[in-house]
This record gives sequence, C-alpha cells and structure tokens, in this order.
Amino acid sequence: MVPTPVLAVASEVYPLVKTGGLADVVGALPGAVAPHGFAITTLLPGYPAVLARCTKPRVLHRYDDLFGTKSRLLGARVDGLDLLLLDAPDLYARDGGLYGDAKGHDWPDNWRRFAALARVAADIAGGLVKGLAPALVHAHDWQAALAPLIMRHSSARAAAVPSLLTIHNIAFQGRFDAKVFPELGLPPQCWSIEGIEYFGGVGFLKAGLAAANAITTVSPTYAREIRAPAYGMGLEGLIAARGSAVSGIVNGIDPAVWNPATDTALPARYTAATLPRRARNRAAIEAAFGLSEGGPLLTVISRLTWQKGIDVLVECLDALVARGCRLALLGSGDAGLEAGLIAAAERHPGRIGVRLGYDEALSHRLQGGSDAILVPSRFEPCGLTQLYGLAYGCIPLVARTGGLADTIIDANPAALGAGVATGFQFDTVTPAGLLEAIDRMCRVFTDPPAWQRMQRQAMRADNSWARSGALYAELYRHLIEAAA
Ligand code: ADP
Ligand code: GLC
Repeated sequence: MVPTPVLAVASEVYPLVKTGGLADVVGALPGAVAPHGFAITTLLPGYPAVLARCTKPRVLHRYDDLFGTKSRLLGARVDGLDLLLLDAPDLYARDGGLYGDAKGHDWPDNWRRFAALARVAADIAGGLVKGLAPALVHAHDWQAALAPLIMRHSSARAAAVPSLLTIHNIAFQGRFDAKVFPELGLPPQCWSIEGIEYFGGVGFLKAGLAAANAITTVSPTYAREIRAPAYGMGLEGLIAARGSAVSGIVNGIDPAVWNPATDTALPARYTAATLPRRARNRAAIEAAFGLSEGGPLLTVISRLTWQKGIDVLVECLDALVARGCRLALLGSGDAGLEAGLIAAAERHPGRIGVRLGYDEALSHRLQGGSDAILVPSRFEPCGLTQLYGLAYGCIPLVARTGGLADTIIDANPAALGAGVATGFQFDTVTPAGLLEAIDRMCRVFTDPPAWQRMQRQAMRADNSWARSGALYAELYRHLIEAAA
C-alpha cells in the first residue's frame, strides 16, 4: 500500500538541529507513524547547520519575494528523514541561536522568520511541490502555528487539507506587536478574536490553536492542566473552548539513540541483567566532574530556567550535600542560575560538579552512570530526560506535573511492595518538597537489592514510540477521513 503523505512543520529536528525535546520528538515521529502507513516529510528552516548536512539537495522551488527575501525550497534525505528546507539566508543564516542572538535576545524579526516557514507549508499543502500532496499538515509549536491559519486563507486546495497542531510548551507563544499584522499577508478578517489577535497583539500559537482541526499536547496530564489559568498561560480559555479537539499523547523515546545496551557514548554498555557494569560509567563521571566517591550520585541535564525549578534546586544544594549526596549537572540557561550553581560547586568541591553548556554525548554518559536524575519542574508538558533515565536505570526523581506525572510510578510503600515503582515524585516545587523526596530516595538507596529492583523495573517500562505512534496515526486517519 502506498503510504499517506503528511507534511510536518517544525523549527528543530534531531539529529540536525536541537535546543530541546521538540527536536527529539520531531525526529522520531516519522519512524513512529511509518508502520501505520504514513510517510512524514518535515519542513524546516534552512539553518546553516542543517544545510551543511545536506549533500546534493534538490531545488524544488524558488521564491523571488518571500516576505521580502529571495529563497529556495530544497528537498533532501538526511539520516533517514525526508526533509524540505527553506533556504532563506536573510532569515536563517545568522551567528547565534535558532531564536535569538548569542546574548539570548530574541531576533526582532522572528515573526517574519516563522511566518515565512508557515507560508511555505501552506503553499506545499496547496500543491507547490510536484509529487507531494500532503493529506495532512502537522505543525509543531508556535514557530509552525501560523500554518493552519494561512492554509485556511490560501488556495481552495490548501484550505481543504486538515491540520494538527502539537503544543510542546504553551509558555512559548510567539507574541508580537500588532503592527506586524499587515505584513503577514492575511486577509483583514483574521485580525479578530477568532483569528490571530491576542491581547491586542499578534499571537502565532493562539492563531494556530483557533485554526487547527485538532490540537495535541505531549501528555494527557498537561492536556488537562492547560485548561486552567495556572498552566494555560493566558490560552486556557481557548484550550477549554476547543473541547474534545484537544488531547494528550505522551512522547516516546527513540531506542536507536537511547539504549544503554548499544550506546557508543558509554564507557561500559549494559542491560538490566548487567547493572553492575554501570560502576565503570559512574567512575567516569566522577573523574570528569572531579567528584569524590560515596553516596548517591545525582544528575541534572536541563535548560537552566524557572520552568525547570532550577532555582529551587540551587536552594537545596547545601542540604543535599549534607545528606551525603553528590551532584553532576549539565545545562545552560539563565545567568543567575548558572552563577548559583557554580557558587555551590565552589562551596562543595568533590561533591558538586557543574558543566555549563550543551553536550549530547555527555548527557548520555550522565544517564548511564548516575544513580538518579532530578527533574524538579514547575510545569513539564512531557519531559524526556526522565524517560531516558528510566531506560538507563538512572532513577527519576520528579515533580508530579504534566508528563512527569504520567510516566513515573512513585515509590510509595504500596508501589515498592508491589515491585512496580520506577521513581520518586513530589507535589510542591519548594525546597521542602524536593528534599522530602530526596530523603525517601536516600532511604531506598541504602538498601541495594531494593534499589536494583527499582532500576530493573524502570528499565522495563515501555517508553517506546510504538503506542504513541499508533495514537498519532489514529488521529491522522480520523482527521483525514473527517476532511474528505
Ligand atoms: P525541554 O525540551 O523542555 O528542554 P525535555 O526533557 O523534553 O525538555 O528535553 C530536553 C532534551 O534536551 C533532552 O534530550 C535532554 O537530554 C537535552 N538536553 C537538555 N540540556 C542539555 C545539555 N545541556 N546538554 C545536552 N543535552 C541537553
Ligand atoms: C517541550 C517541553 C518538554 C517536552 C518537549 C518535547 O520542550 O518543555 O516537556 O518533552 O517539548 O515534546
């Protein structure tokens, strides 16, 4: 049977360009839905790092004036992914980050950079590329969220294609000044509360939430949470109004990338049956982070932001060391949090080690040798590092929110007794809340057979894409049938 073509639109994809979990998910989805008869082609901005990976791309279309710039649409197959790249140097060829300069200030023309991406998605839905007639457009996050709205107001053919918008994080909304509206090329009626207008300005995510045929987010708990003001960040009314069009599908992990039995980044590879081999990986972390031996070795691999509760962690560090724990942290983000972590490492040489920056291989080594991974997020749409922790027997200790609530089974006495516990959860993201969970963790850690039982149970958890891939495929099918 010929697979049904789907166009995905996103601003990141692993392994080409990644700042967070979005890239991992966009990179894994094509493989997850392929067994169900869908062929995803992913449209991405042509960042220099992406173009550098494409040998001999095909030129599929040339724009003389796409939001004031000359650009090309390229087709390429890289690392098993079918990609469409918007090669628009004026928009994407810049030193600095994907979304802002080296100092972390957003690029002032982000509205143009991502409106262009969405416009091209709508053009493709309308038949721009010969031989590609997507039956569905799947947009990810605010950077792609204008696609469903533009599709409705471009050709009849594009307007007939159903769209799905996946929210990976509702905190990032793509909000811009009202004065960019006339530049977007949308009909005047889109400037309305049913369209793109959002608190007097332009809201890309808001526009997509209103226009898409269906909306998913990356865990069932987060799908519920964002209906309320505490998590909806201003969009809760619209989310609630979309009713059953909003659902949650939890992320999976890609076993080709995250599997301790085959992971070439690890000094020692292992399975649930060879857990003692992790000792070599632990020793390598101790050497790399200058840590002394003894006590649970905790890790954090994270953007260093308020969302991730890193300020609360910083407040707990002295108490953590006093309890005999060690910490090896990898991350980057807010300058104040980075400074707080460095200061703690200086106060506790041999017990706290901090590596600022982004290092994919080191993130694997930390999962493969640490005893536990801390994820004290205030909100977490899904979270991937706790899933990698499960797969690597690096016990997750997490806040009970969003996807963290959905993927970890707390080691309460009943779950421990039944042998089903896979981690530790806590309710309030405060120093007291986090330390209470750390105390519970330390108690289990002093009982090696119980700890190893938990590690094996964690490693048995099914976090593959199989189930979630089937759920996405079912939704794709439903949307395509409903639009026919
Ligand atoms: P988010 O997307 O909100 O940052 P997730 O847990 O979904 O959170 O995904 C984070 C991804 O980024 C994971 O793959 C994690 O391993 C990776 N990551 C985060 N910080 C770093 C870092 N400093 N170095 C390497 N990988 C990192
Ligand atoms: C976002 C969320 C994170 C989620 C990731 C992938 O970055 O913050 O929780 O795992 O997207 O869906």
